[in-house]
Amino acid sequence: MNKKRVLSGMQASGKLHLGNLVGALENWKRMQDDYECYYFIADWHALSTNYEHTDDIVSYRMEMAADWLAAGIDPNRAVLFVQSQVPEHAVLHLFLSMIVPVPWLERNPTYKEKMDNIQDKDLATYGFLGYPVLQAADIALYKADLVPVGIDQLPHLELTRELVRRFNHIYRCEVLKEPEAKISQVPKLKGTDGRKMSKSYNNAIFLSEEPEEVEKKIRGMITDTKRARRKDPGEPDDCNLFPLHLIYSPEKEREEIRKGCRSAEMGCTDCKALLLKNLLPALKPHLEKRKELMQNPERILEILAEGSKKARSVAQATLEEVKVAMKIA
Ligand code: TRP
Repeated sequence: MNKKRVLSGMQASGKLHLGNLVGALENWKRMQDDYECYYFIADWHALSTNYEHTDDIVSYRMEMAADWLAAGIDPNRAVLFVQSQVPEHAVLHLFLSMIVPVPWLERNPTYKEKMDNIQDKDLATYGFLGYPVLQAADIALYKADLVPVGIDQLPHLELTRELVRRFNHIYRCEVLKEPEAKISQVPKLKGTDGRKMSKSYNNAIFLSEEPEEVEKKIRGMITDTKRARRKDPGEPDDCNLFPLHLIYSPEKEREEIRKGCRSAEMGCTDCKALLLKNLLPALKPHLEKRKELMQNPERILEILAEGSKKARSVAQATLEEVKVAMKIA
C-alpha cells in the first residue's frame, strides 16, 4: 500500500497555544490514520528572528514535543523529529540558496509584512530573508506530497514549488517533488484582545496554563464590541469568543447563545461561563498528559532521537540523489 507522504513543522520559538492545537495539531493527528506522516520541530527556523536570544530554544523544543504527544501525535504512527538533528536540512538549504533568485525572496508577502511589523530586532539578515529556502529544503528532503499548514504559509509553499521546479529544470532531473499545501479548514482562533491568537501579540491561551489562568483570560476576553452594555444586542459571528464555542460547545448551547446574544437576553458573562464549563474539562486531559510527559524528559528525548534517525535516513537518500543530479557527488 502506497500512502501519500505528509510533512509539516512548527517553529520552536514559544509555548504552544490553543490556536496551535485546534489549527494544526488536531489536523496532524487526524492525518496519521491515512498518510505516512513526518512532523518536525523547526529549531533552526527559530534562529531567523531570535538569533540574539537563543536561551529558550532548547526548552521550547522539549515543551513542543510534550504538547504534540499530549495532543495525540503518536510516535508509532508518525515520525517525530528535530530539524537540527538532521543536518541534511542545512546542506540542501545551501544548495537551494545557490539557485534561488533573491527577488523571489524579497517579494514574499510574509517577509515584507514581518519586516514592517517587527521593529525591535534587526532582520536585515540573510537568514531571515532565506527563511523560506530553509523551509523548501525541509519539505523537499522528504519528497512530501502534502504539507498541512495555515493560510499564512501559502507564499512559502508556493516558493517551495517554484524552487523545486527550478532545481529539476537546471539539473535536468526529477529528483525533487512539488508538494501541495493542505490548508486546515478550522477558523483562526482569536486571542483575548480580538486579534489573531499569537504568542507575539500577548493574547494567547497556552496549553501549559492551569485552569485558573485560562478562566481569568476567558473572563477578561474582549467580546463583540457592539455589546458595550448588557442590554445591547450582539452578533456571535462578530464575537471573538464564539469561535471557541464552535469548537468546544454542543450545537444546542450554541443555538441558545446565538438567540440570547442577538436578543440581549444573555449577557457576555453567562456566555463565558458556558464556554468555561465546556472548555476547561476539554483541556484538562491535555494538561495532565503534558505534565506527566514533562516529568520524564529522557523519554521525550528518546522519542525525538529515534524519529530523527528515521528521518535522517530518508533525508540522506534524497541528498545523495541531489548531489548526483548536481554532478558533485
Ligand atoms: N514556517 C512554518 C511556521 O511558521 C514552520 C515550518 C518550517 C514548516 N519548515 C516547515 C511548516 C516545513 C511546514 C513545512 O509555521
